[in-house]
Amino acid sequence: MKPRHLTLILCLIATGAIAHDKAKDPSVKARMQMMKEIKQATGVLGNMAKQPATYSKTEAEAARAALVSLSGKIPAAFQDQATDPASEASPKVWQNWADFTAKATALKSAAQALDAGSASGVATGMRQIGGACGACHKPYRL
Ligand code: HEC
Repeated sequence: MKPRHLTLILCLIATGAIAHDKAKDPSVKARMQMMKEIKQATGVLGNMAKQPATYSKTEAEAARAALVSLSGKIPAAFQDQATDPASEASPKVWQNWADFTAKATALKSAAQALDAGSASGVATGMRQIGGACGACHKPYRL
């Protein structure tokens, strides 16, 4: 393969990976960033749920606290109805605002209910949390 072609392919891969960073609207960027932080905290708990040997009480408590705090910020992050070609938010978010915010509250409740005191507590709580992500993404994320 000619080096020129390889460069092109690498560029295409990189573009795909950072597609979300293309959002220009500052509100949309901020809410995407918030979701990334939610994903990160969920990933910490998810890994412990899958591999109990990696359980750390300190990390589990920090991730739980981050999720409680971040999920509480979801309504405010979407409130201004910002749009951007790179956004994956469905217009239904604002058409069904009460339901959307209820789903944010459901995630917050699930995070609050998670027992970070043991690996099995994390695993049980993660099922509720995972369900709460999906319950909102299915109707409201394109
Ligand atoms: C109340 C609704 C709601 C809940 C609950 C929710 N999300 Fe989201 N999420 C959205 C919406 C809407 C978008 C699309 C935002 C956009 O592109 O403007 C999104 C986007 C994302 C993205 C993509 C961010 C990007 O860079 O574009 C990730 C990752 C994500 N969510 C992870 C999660 C995880 C993990 C959970 C559960 C712990 C979760 N979300 C819970 C509504 C929600």
